[in-house]
Amino acid sequence: MTSTPRTRVLTGITTTGTPHLGNYVGAIRPTVQASRNANTDGFYFLADYHALIKCDDPARIQRSTLEIAASWIASGLDTDKVTFYRQSDIPEIPELTWFLTCVTGKGVLNRAHAYKAAVDKNNAAGHDPDSDVTAGLFMYPVLMGADILMFKAHKVPVGRDQIQHIEMARDMASSFNHLYGEHFVLPEAVVEASVALLPGLDGRKMSKSYDNTIPLFAPAAQMRKQIASIVTDSKAPGEAKSTEGSALFQIYQAFASAEETAALAKAYAEGIAWGDAKQVLFERIDREIAPMREQYQELINNPAKLDQILLAGADKARQMATPFIKELRHAVGLRALSSGTSASGAKESKVALPSFKQYREKDGQFYFKMVDAQGQLLLQSKGFASPKEAGQTIVRLQTEGLACIAEMLHLLEPTSAHLLPSVEHNLGVIQAANNNARK
Ligand code: TRP
Repeated sequence: MTSTPRTRVLTGITTTGTPHLGNYVGAIRPTVQASRNANTDGFYFLADYHALIKCDDPARIQRSTLEIAASWIASGLDTDKVTFYRQSDIPEIPELTWFLTCVTGKGVLNRAHAYKAAVDKNNAAGHDPDSDVTAGLFMYPVLMGADILMFKAHKVPVGRDQIQHIEMARDMASSFNHLYGEHFVLPEAVVEASVALLPGLDGRKMSKSYDNTIPLFAPAAQMRKQIASIVTDSKAPGEAKSTEGSALFQIYQAFASAEETAALAKAYAEGIAWGDAKQVLFERIDREIAPMREQYQELINNPAKLDQILLAGADKARQMATPFIKELRHAVGLRALSSGTSASGAKESKVALPSFKQYREKDGQFYFKMVDAQGQLLLQSKGFASPKEAGQTIVRLQTEGLACIAEMLHLLEPTSAHLLPSVEHNLGVIQAANNNARK
């Protein structure tokens, strides 16, 4: 039996706005669905450091963080299964940002889309190219690289406009690995082509910047009113209507089943009045949203509970981030002076590594344990009859990593769940070191 290796999926949401139906259909709903996959570990976070790049209104940042956290949970994100946290609760991220800053070419950042767009706009207006451009905007891709590389994400679901940033994160990882040894996983962007792009009230893509959004959890009466303001043509009741180019129809399609959609298409052909079509749309959306709206309100009214959930998520995330940043500090040479120095300028190959230790107990049986570079116990085996059996188990763990751990549980003493990320991380370090040694 072979078990599938677990895939780590990570994505961030910038906390500058109120979630709307476009966010729900394009990101929240598909991501919550994907997060239920048993073979993936989801890392979802509120990118509030990123928010500071675009927004200097503290109240708005706080409110948006509250609303986005409540929206994701009300939409079904299981915060016990996934790791859901706030970027600014992970102090290791800004530290990693600096390490990555030092391996990123300035010229690479000059070509980042968001920065380039700002420069182009200034040039077109005859202003200084960097007029009103903050260093924060310029550094945006590096902070994003730190978000991703910190947790060794394999897959990063993003919109098309973000693909370039994931490629930059890969380059940062490669450069760092090349200089300091294999520490980072190279991430891949995932762009969900099948996810609907929702039109907004005016027919253009629903987006905060067009001011054409329908908030996800507005009270039902407000949602009904906004749906009534969706732009249509001026065909009278009884006149056949075209589904093509109808924003109303496209929004309906994003919520309805194939049969429901076909039924509305038929009603269009038969000349349904726009007012009636809007009522159909409102009822269909409300059927999906109303049950979540209740939980959303409950969470919004209880921010202390959300704080608690986010801090628990940050705790979980830091189980990985804290030992990893320690490893990285050591790798780049930020070390205790007493830890020994290497000979003049020679590149180092040896860093303190996690390791397996085999031993025999008084009961005559053979055991092993795994400890991290600082000597903390991470895994403890049960007793084996022979050293060979113990050795074989170690070899499997070293070569297959966490992929085989489910099959090994009967050979291991239960480890507290919060150590699992450290186990995985350290198995990865051992694997990487073995791979390097073979090169
Ligand atoms: N920049 C992303 C956006 O605007 C948000 C984000 C921040 C992100 N850090 C991330 C997305 C890391 C994926 C991974 O959509």
